[in-house]
Amino acid sequence: MTTRDVIEEVKQKLDIITIVQDYLPALKHSGRNFFAPCPFHNEKTPSFSVSQEIQRYKCFGCGESGDVITFVQNMENVEFPKALELCAKKAGIPLERLSSYSQKDSKLFEKKKAILGANQLAAEFFHYIFLKHERGEEGRIYARKRKFRKQEVKKFLLGYAPNDFQSLKAFLSKKGYSEADLVSWSLLTQKNSRTYDKFRNRLMFPIHNHIGDIVGFSGRVISADDIPKYLNSSETLVYKKSAILYGLFQARDSIRKNKFVIIVEGNVDVPMAHKVGIENIVAPMGTALTKEQLQLLKRYTDTIYFAFDNDTAGQKALIRSHELAQDLGFTTKSIDVAPYGDVDELISGGDQLLQERIDDAVSVVRFIMRSLAKELDLESAEGKSELGHRIAPILAHVNDEIAKNHYIQEVADMLDVKISVIQKLLVESKSQKTTVIDSGAEKVNKPIFQERKNTKERYLLSFLLQYPEFRSETIDWDIFSDQHALDIYKKLTKGEKSISKNIEGLKDGEKDLATELLMQQLGSFESDVEAKHFFKEHIAELTEIYYKRRLGELKKQLKHQEQKGEETAELLSEISAITNKLKTHK
Ligand code: CTP
Ligand code: MN
Repeated sequence: MTTRDVIEEVKQKLDIITIVQDYLPALKHSGRNFFAPCPFHNEKTPSFSVSQEIQRYKCFGCGESGDVITFVQNMENVEFPKALELCAKKAGIPLERLSSYSQKDSKLFEKKKAILGANQLAAEFFHYIFLKHERGEEGRIYARKRKFRKQEVKKFLLGYAPNDFQSLKAFLSKKGYSEADLVSWSLLTQKNSRTYDKFRNRLMFPIHNHIGDIVGFSGRVISADDIPKYLNSSETLVYKKSAILYGLFQARDSIRKNKFVIIVEGNVDVPMAHKVGIENIVAPMGTALTKEQLQLLKRYTDTIYFAFDNDTAGQKALIRSHELAQDLGFTTKSIDVAPYGDVDELISGGDQLLQERIDDAVSVVRFIMRSLAKELDLESAEGKSELGHRIAPILAHVNDEIAKNHYIQEVADMLDVKISVIQKLLVESKSQKTTVIDSGAEKVNKPIFQERKNTKERYLLSFLLQYPEFRSETIDWDIFSDQHALDIYKKLTKGEKSISKNIEGLKDGEKDLATELLMQQLGSFESDVEAKHFFKEHIAELTEIYYKRRLGELKKQLKHQEQKGEETAELLSEISAITNKLKTHK
């Protein structure tokens, strides 16, 4: 089986509508196509469309387009071979059928697979020790103290790394991995020429990426004397800290169902929340939340509830994360964990407490306003000034204008000043550079629809593709200046085959424009007369544009030939013919 065969088979077995709907429950039928707000850029009105007929999607907002496999690839943030594998699974095609394909695939992909394989084995090893082995007793004692439950231990594949330098090394060596690889994959440590287990006497949190591969580990100390408190895997080919959220894999369904995600600071908070039935929860594992992580979340929801630690570091993190999230179009709320230190402690205070605090969550702005009002003396000039200056940058990032104005008014009332005073503070704070971490490689913020050229011509071609009965009308193809679009139109309508068959024959670079032409929304026509009117009007307009363009070209040529002293009679007669046509045309 060739790669192409596999791809074809996968595509034939899947319906893009069903797959997209799994990710975007909002996808709705409307006219010829299905629509939803685009998952690849921020928008409120749906311009992301999916065609059942040609099994492709296209966003008329950001330009993103492709087929079912590239959709899964983009949604899951994976490389093509992985997306194909995921789609094959959905299509019920046995994975062995793909193996001939993946073997041929890049060395890089193979290498990643090897790391993931070793991580999976290591996780199972730690998990087994934790649950069953006598060397795991210390881990079990600690887990009981922290009130972990069996269900979560299994769901998160939690484990225990025994207090021993050689146990994982021996286990993985027996499985055939080289020590050098295990060192570079952050499972062993090397000192001088000796290698030994990196994680010892630690509670092990395997870190799953959002599709469930184990990409690394975070190990918490058990003995209070050990440092650091958390030992984490170094970055590898499969583990980029800034792009991973702990718990996302186990949270995905719940995030979609509940339409919001809770972000906490600590690993432990995540399984503890699951214990009390709250599963839409993730943690960025000690690093400041990044744009990349938020963009990953954007694929599941538009609403974030922060439940950060009840300390100054937590408040700082809240402000920073709120700004970043607002800039990416999220709605942000904050959950109050006080008087407890964090979500884990809150839960140990009572099983229902987290749910109650979720129900009481308020917008981040209100949350900060409240805590500043508690912290500062608002009777004093200094206290007022400080509140104003501290709240301004937070308000400045609120992406909803109505909400923003509401808060400005509220702060003005609170400080007993004019609204303009607060507005001025906002402007000042905006001009100060905010420290936003951008981890690069983002497609979400690319300029909206670079390609606005030749819209009228492309509309007419779209019309002809979508209303085939007009294809028999005589059309002067010279009126098209967009050769690229015309060329694709001709390829799509060529021969006996259907358009959806013809599109498969196009080069990858051509499919994008073909999709655009086929899926362009033209609005529906009430009657044949109306459609005919649309057609005639477009032809007339394009003809006029063509005449003007041609006239321009001829005049330039005329000037050129006159300068050279060449014969111009023929040119002149064409010019006068077109000038006449233009007159009668109007
Ligand atoms: N962290 C880290 N390295 C450290 C300390 C913390 O990577 N030396 C990360 C861990 O992912 C940790 C998170 O930061 O989960 C939050 O730290 P902290 O609040 O100290 O830990 P908790 O998760 O609350 O752990 P515990 O409840 O066991 O104290
Ligand atoms: Mn904690």
